[in-house]
Amino acid sequence: MKYHGIELGVDFCGLKFQNPFILAAAPPTDDLDMVRSAFEAGWAGAVLKTTSVEGTIVDLVYPMISSLDFEGKKLVGLGNIDLISEHHIDEIEKRVGILKSEFPSKIVGASIMGTKKEDWQCLVQRLEKAGVDLIECSFSCPQGSMGEEPGAMLAQSIPATEMVTGWVKEAARRVPVIIKVTPQVTNIVDVAGAVKRGGADGICASNTIPSLMGIDIHSLTPHPDVRGKSSYSGMSGAAIKPITLRTIAEISKAIDIPITGTGGPTTWKDAVEFLLVGATTVQFATAVMRYGYDIIEDLTSGLAFYMEEKGFKSVVDIIGKSLPNIVTHGELERKTVISKIDEQLCIKCDACYITCRDGGHQAIKLEREDRLPEVDEEKCTGCGLCVTICPVDAITLKEKIVKCKM
Ligand SMILES: Cc1cc2nc3c(=O)[nH]c(=O)nc-3n(C[C@H](O)[C@H](O)[C@H](O)COP(=O)(O)O)c2cc1C
Repeated sequence: MKYHGIELGVDFCGLKFQNPFILAAAPPTDDLDMVRSAFEAGWAGAVLKTTSVEGTIVDLVYPMISSLDFEGKKLVGLGNIDLISEHHIDEIEKRVGILKSEFPSKIVGASIMGTKKEDWQCLVQRLEKAGVDLIECSFSCPQGSMGEEPGAMLAQSIPATEMVTGWVKEAARRVPVIIKVTPQVTNIVDVAGAVKRGGADGICASNTIPSLMGIDIHSLTPHPDVRGKSSYSGMSGAAIKPITLRTIAEISKAIDIPITGTGGPTTWKDAVEFLLVGATTVQFATAVMRYGYDIIEDLTSGLAFYMEEKGFKSVVDIIGKSLPNIVTHGELERKTVISKIDEQLCIKCDACYITCRDGGHQAIKLEREDRLPEVDEEKCTGCGLCVTICPVDAITLKEKIVKCKM
């Protein structure tokens, strides 16, 4: 798909996406009319919320959503104790057929979860027959994979990940199979290696983060309050983006496998970051739950203008471009920098002074009569704390070359 002359289409596991933006398996894909609205708005594809074989009991609890608030801002992170869809495979088969006939150019994916080999394979075969384009396997529900130890996720076991991936691939004749992993492991590269050995066509990195969203200090109940009790949530949204970027980057650097990124994107800039560390497509859930399907307009226009400005001819040119800049700590250059305050911009709020005094190196002085802060160049190490604190971006770092003490 072209946006003002810029080609946004991308190929992922042999499938042509009109743009790199798709809906993740979550409430926005758990209803036929909702997916229709999303496709009409311009989303390139959707992964329907995780389904299961008929007879699987999906015992939901309400309320299931809670918010991580920070300094007055709501939903910095979103917690959920949701489970998979209440709609079983018979309903999802129908939806896939309808969506494919109404929107042949959109990518219709389905997410599956089973307890035994027959279930996984039956789900794959039925979805292929229904005309699905892509199958995503949920190995990472934070409420635990059904049939595993309570609370454990399939993707936390390397042998189980490889084995179940193999089962799914054995059953898949036509459609690409993607495995959705969890960041909650010691070594994500080992898990991605198991996914690759199992024969998967791609990997989805990396779902929500198991969390305890907060405690009401008066009732002593954790969030969300389910009549005085709660349980661990999966956290999504902006708060988890850095963790997702790390998992995508680690997988990209070590394993040759296409990646669809999930976990924390809100804006087109976030999506570009996902691409820069190696994702080919970017999935959205929380941002859509909060702002609606229409964010697709900002995502596509933002990406197109960015590509034009940077001279990228295609989305593929962006993928993995930042990976060479991610190195080990030991490989970083041992130069240092010092802070420089722009007196024209400074609003004399004292934030840099306090932060440096109590969290840095006491290198910012407030001794001038006009109360403008000054940097003591001898004491300043260039740690960057004041730069991150300044509310008006009046502080930058300038280079200072020092001798390595090692
Ligand atoms: C309420 C809710 C329900 C979800 N249900 C599923 C699900 O059924 N299957 C699945 O693979 N992921 C599920 N997810 C995870 C999302 O697909 C996505 O990976 C995660 O929310 C991180 O992306 P985000 O930060 O864009 O929300 C769910 C997320 C939320 C918020």
